[in-house]
Amino acid sequence: MEKFNIAIDGPAGSGKSTIAISLAKILGFIYIDTGAMYRAAAWKALKENAGFNDEEALLAVTGKLKMKIQPDLEHPVGYRVFVDGKEITGELTSPEVSLKVSLLAKVSPIRRILVEQQRRMAESGGVVMTGRDIGTVVLRDAPVKIFLTASAGERARRRFLQMEDEGRAVDPALANESVKVRDKIDSSREDSPLKPAEDAVIIDSTSMTIDEVVNKILEIIGSRRKAGEF
Ligand code: DC
Repeated sequence: MEKFNIAIDGPAGSGKSTIAISLAKILGFIYIDTGAMYRAAAWKALKENAGFNDEEALLAVTGKLKMKIQPDLEHPVGYRVFVDGKEITGELTSPEVSLKVSLLAKVSPIRRILVEQQRRMAESGGVVMTGRDIGTVVLRDAPVKIFLTASAGERARRRFLQMEDEGRAVDPALANESVKVRDKIDSSREDSPLKPAEDAVIIDSTSMTIDEVVNKILEIIGSRRKAGEF
């Protein structure tokens, strides 16, 4: 089968990663979560005590970031992240990183650096890539674009369960607030705001199971291929 790319965008807690991991396993594709790249840069900026309102400082950190994303579908999050040779996968979803990452992700020159890396990772095809701007910016030519949504309450519930799974003691109200703040910044920023691409299929997963969403996407792929679209 010819290698094509799948772009999946959506807000925090919409189920992007779970769905992408499942699709990658079924199709034998590589899963790339671009959020992890923004998070790795934010993690390093926190380590270096960069001010999150200081765009120059954030850009300097990202510009010299030695980051490696190693796809690993056997790992619970689907990949492992190394910065300066040290694994930091488990630290990327800390409340501190989650709180600050949107401030870094709205800086245009930082986005340009990471978008270029993301395009390179997908140039051979066979990639399921998740993020906020994959269908609209990073992989504009991807033949399959999905915009995944879910109600705000359901998304907060999923994020809370995910954090509990990771062994983090979190206050559900705080988890809810953190997701809301992040979504607001991600959707209202000037550069590459979170929005569906014109040719994306919008899937509301609020009352769907993981398998139902995955099967729906497989059906979309199947019918498009049958129609000779790619
Ligand atoms: O998907 P996530 O919650 O791990 O994303 C972390 C942050 O990075 C979030 O604020 C959105 C931002 N992001 C982005 O702006 N563009 C992407 N392609 C992926 C994530």
